[in-house]
Amino acid sequence: MHYADLPTLAHELVYLRPLSRADAPAWYGYLTMPHVLEHTSWDLRSIDELMLKFDAFESTDPASEVRLAIALCDSDKLVGTVGFHSVSPLHKTAEIAYDLAPGVWGRGIAPSVCAAVVKWGFSHLGAVRIQATALDSNTRSVRVLEKCGFQREGLLRNFRMVRNHPRDFWIYSCLDPHIGIDDT
Ligand SMILES: CC(C)(COP(=O)(O)OP(=O)(O)OC[C@H]1O[C@@H](n2cnc3c(N)ncnc32)[C@H](O)[C@@H]1OP(=O)(O)O)[C@@H](O)C(=O)NCCC(=O)NCCS
Repeated sequence: MHYADLPTLAHELVYLRPLSRADAPAWYGYLTMPHVLEHTSWDLRSIDELMLKFDAFESTDPASEVRLAIALCDSDKLVGTVGFHSVSPLHKTAEIAYDLAPGVWGRGIAPSVCAAVVKWGFSHLGAVRIQATALDSNTRSVRVLEKCGFQREGLLRNFRMVRNHPRDFWIYSCLDPHIGIDDT
């Protein structure tokens, strides 16, 4: 789905733009690196498997997955993605997901992108709760969530199969600060 207003970032290296099918080779390139997928549930067998996800990204269904490209300002090259899956227009909830190419790790991009996209999720998707799940071993992602004000709610035991093994995930959430309990 394409939005008129995309989240605006306060980061000098990257900006957010719609993800296009032409980005798939760059995305697939780092998503299959062992140290990138190690703490995620990604398990891609081919680029065609990744291409199938673009059907959902291009859908106009309000419950479909939203994914944006994180691109370098100077070359427009894709160095990451961010978005929401498990979007529920009924409950006004969504789950954030993000990834970065290892070449740009440690530059403060992830917290900057996560904070901007969460704010946009509240203002443009109308979400009242944005949640995040991270493998219990994903210390980098947990730091990103905590820096963005997410609160840990607990450990989801055997929550997802990760490359054929049941794994525990932390669940975090962030609530729309503008909505009080009486407004929902
Ligand atoms: C998760 C991810 C987006 C974080 O990006 P990043 O650029 O590393 O983020 P940051 O630079 O803010 O670093 C995150 C924190 O991890 C810390 N960190 C760095 N290396 C670390 C390591 N080896 N072990 C533990 N923590 C580490 C950093 O110090 C930083 O914390 P700090 O700011 O308090 O110092 C990136 O690592 C990534 O794409 N990983 C693969 C995909 C993924 O895991 N996606 C999330 C799924 S839930």
